[in-house]
Amino acid sequence: MSFDNLTALKPYLSFFHPITMWILLVVALYAMYLGVQVRRTRLAEGESKKELVKGRFAIRHHQIGSILLALMVIGAIGGIMVTYINNGKIVIGPHLFAGLGIVGLISTSAALVPFMQKHNWVRNVHVSLNLILLGLFGWQAVTGVQIVQKILSQMMMDGAV
Ligand code: HEM
Ligand code: HEM
Repeated sequence: MSFDNLTALKPYLSFFHPITMWILLVVALYAMYLGVQVRRTRLAEGESKKELVKGRFAIRHHQIGSILLALMVIGAIGGIMVTYINNGKIVIGPHLFAGLGIVGLISTSAALVPFMQKHNWVRNVHVSLNLILLGLFGWQAVTGVQIVQKILSQMMMDGAV
């Protein structure tokens, strides 16, 4: 397929995915903070529990988690599409596999939600999957910036910048 009519857009397209994914990394860290507060609320007792309940952390965590889920899947699809538009092929490498791994992890972790209320071990699986996810996300940030550097030096060689 030819994407010649997208040529003018290409430089912007390349940076859209990296920038939005950095923002999403912050959203993921915020989701983690809210999740930790959910756990603290569940385990707290007495006065401190009453205080923590006011934070409505469970609802807020679920909301941010849902937004994170949607944007993560769209972001991964977007990364693949932009790579295809720019190179005419998909680059098969660590960033692709870690990205697909993240999509699998976050979908599974969200799919566990209906079972979490009843079984504590499912909560622990949810937390473990998401910790692996955050580790992989950090790795994506590093490999992603390396790809950005490659794209920039390619652009400079082509005289586009
Ligand atoms: C960065 C990713 C995430 C992290 C680190 C994380 C972490 C946590 C933690 C620590 C808990 C508390 C477990 C406990 O009470 O022992 C929790 C609960 C929960 N999480 Fe997540 N989570 C993440 C993403 C998600 C996503 C994507 C969803 C759904 C779309 C989600 C939905 C929930 C729900 C519904 C609960 C239970 C709240 C309740 O007790 O009512 N989380 N999560
Ligand atoms: C956090 C920082 C991230 C940065 C800076 C980044 C950067 C990039 C860049 C520059 C590309 C190449 C686009 C092109 O060729 O024009 C790319 C591709 C891609 N990204 Fe990311 N990315 C990040 C996070 C993520 C995450 C979290 C996922 C998955 C959820 C992901 C999934 C992909 C996929 C599947 C591709 C296409 C395959 C490939 O080129 O390896 N990226 N990314």
